[in-house]
Amino acid sequence: MNSLSSVKIIDGKAAAARVLREVRIEVEQLMRVGIQPGLAVVLVGCDPASQVYVRNKVLRAEETGIRSIEHKLPADTGEAALLELIERLNADPAVNGILVQLPLPRHIDEHRVLQAIDPLKDVDGFHAENVGGLSQGREVLTPCTPAGCMRLLQDSCGELAGKHAVVIGRSNIVGKPMAALLLKAHCTVTVVHSRSSNLRELCRQADILVAAVGKPRLVDASWLKPGAVVIDVGINRIEEDGKSRLVGDVDFDSALSQVSAITPVPGGVGPMTIAYLMQNTVTAARLQRPALLSHSTFAEASCPSIS
Ligand code: GUN
Repeated sequence: MNSLSSVKIIDGKAAAARVLREVRIEVEQLMRVGIQPGLAVVLVGCDPASQVYVRNKVLRAEETGIRSIEHKLPADTGEAALLELIERLNADPAVNGILVQLPLPRHIDEHRVLQAIDPLKDVDGFHAENVGGLSQGREVLTPCTPAGCMRLLQDSCGELAGKHAVVIGRSNIVGKPMAALLLKAHCTVTVVHSRSSNLRELCRQADILVAAVGKPRLVDASWLKPGAVVIDVGINRIEEDGKSRLVGDVDFDSALSQVSAITPVPGGVGPMTIAYLMQNTVTAARLQRPALLSHSTFAEASCPSIS
């Protein structure tokens, strides 16, 4: 049990605003040498949640001085037409980053589409070359949500080396890259998932718990070690008391009695994802012109070298 007044509520909005300020400064530096970073966002179909995400990405890009190019395609767009668009974007020197909003309609092979993106423009970090590079410790573009989680952890817990981090979830977008980044930060890392037999006991051993499983309020106080730091990646919409609400994978009110720090939902991890998309776009612009690379090009969290 801890005194609730000593619990740190990690403010993702404020942290994202800091990242976006850093990005804006980098964009100004690039503009001075005649480069305005460009981000192409591709949306196929009209899934309402995806439309909101894409609109927010375009808005944040404009705020940071990044030129955003939106491509909205009808839901019945064929895979060949989408691959053709990606080829054009790959070849366009004004486009530094390409993001294809997921999920894609079922008739399109998501893997084939993601593999078609030039790895140097892959600001999602989903191309196999970047995924492999991350696990090998090469400097590559890294998925935005895990990069944002690392920044929150580094800002709020200081030294991570030697801590036991447990990641709930093994998705390609969050769980696996998160585990790779925590390893880079010298944590001892356990990945648990829906088939793990003693989920709660494993989580109770965590100094750092990252929940990315998509199950509303799965984790309560009984899953937590006293003093744990909790990063809640879940964004789940539920109906409660006749209202629609967003909740995380962690039961926030219950967890407060155990944790030393925790991210809220909303206002925790969410804003960091878009901030790191902007950071990755600037990093991609530099990667495409090696003369502009410097030792500080890669955000500590987003491009690790692992040993
Ligand atoms: N859909 C949900 N999350 C993501 C993401 O991080 N990137 C892309 N491209 N699509 C998504």
